[in-house]
Amino acid sequence: MASLGRLDRLWQRGREFLGTDYAIMGGAMSWVSERHLVAAISNSGGFGVIACGSMEPERLDEEIKATQALTAKPFGVNLITMHPKLDQLIDVCGANGVSHVVLAGGLPSAAAIKRAKDTGAKVVCFAPALVLAKKLVRSGVDALVIEGAEAGGHIGPVSTSVLAQEILPVMAEQLPIFVAGGIGRGEVIVSYLEMGAAGVQLGTRFVCANECVAHPNFKQAFIKAAARDAVPTTQVDPAFPVIPVRALANEGTKRFVEFQHQVISRYRAGELEHKDAQLEIEHYWAGALRRAVIDGDVEMGSVMAGQSVGLVTKVQPCAEIFSELLDQAQGALAARQGSS
Ligand SMILES: Cc1cc2nc3c(=O)[nH]c(=O)nc-3n(C[C@H](O)[C@H](O)[C@H](O)COP(=O)(O)O)c2cc1C
Repeated sequence: MASLGRLDRLWQRGREFLGTDYAIMGGAMSWVSERHLVAAISNSGGFGVIACGSMEPERLDEEIKATQALTAKPFGVNLITMHPKLDQLIDVCGANGVSHVVLAGGLPSAAAIKRAKDTGAKVVCFAPALVLAKKLVRSGVDALVIEGAEAGGHIGPVSTSVLAQEILPVMAEQLPIFVAGGIGRGEVIVSYLEMGAAGVQLGTRFVCANECVAHPNFKQAFIKAAARDAVPTTQVDPAFPVIPVRALANEGTKRFVEFQHQVISRYRAGELEHKDAQLEIEHYWAGALRRAVIDGDVEMGSVMAGQSVGLVTKVQPCAEIFSELLDQAQGALAARQGSS
């Protein structure tokens, strides 16, 4: 255990920023990251984050209070910037004394960042490129998450390893940066910390926690899947853009390709306006994550998962996931000491 001190020192800034034992954030996952998983992650020494998703302000208020009843440890709330009631959601976080607000799903406005900071919360944003990271720092954010294309859910085009190389050497001294996307073991956590990251964010690895409320079918799909099964959504025609989401290939993803072809043929035949065709394509996945996570329809629902799904092998308590990650991280550090 000699290397625990070394690990503590490596992610000290992240631990201080989050107020946790370990600088590991449980990335917010819509429908998945509710009170039980969030509290379990925080109670295990990490930093749980509630996924607000499309919740109304009253629902978020209830979820924050319920999470506070399950843990006295710090946790955050992830808000989607295009939510029509973003300001009210920020105010709900403020009224409940939420310590960290994560603004996701597009670049937040300076006004939204200020409103969240004015509640007294620390504000965390996603930086998908170096120029945007710099812009966010100028807008006053307190920390950044850089999330690569290996991640589950909505993704950008650049891999985690390249984003880390582009952003960490330039920005890591200015503010805490958490690396996300494709992280499933402790060795790689150490590598990113050594490059200057303050900590990491994992989503996929926490889905099969005992405490996670996802349907057993959803968890089984994760256990069965290999890394190559977690693929970005296919777009058949650039004239009809599709938001890239990484999810397990299933009947729903197969039919989505056929569906796009049908809609585009109807457009070409003059049966549909361009904007209506685009809307039909966008609506295909409406409610699909909920169908998979809550109802267990893993054939037609959206089984959002990152490539690290290949490293998920069983349902296990959250605390055990943390102890595996820590053992692997400490093992990596001990090996470095041994070889130096
Ligand atoms: C099922 C699922 C749902 C997600 N929903 C959200 C979300 O609502 N908001 C968000 O900012 N990120 C969301 N993410 C991304 C995670 O917060 C996290 O950044 C990502 O999972 C990290 O990459 P990993 O999956 O490789 O660990 C989601 C990811 C998954 C797998």
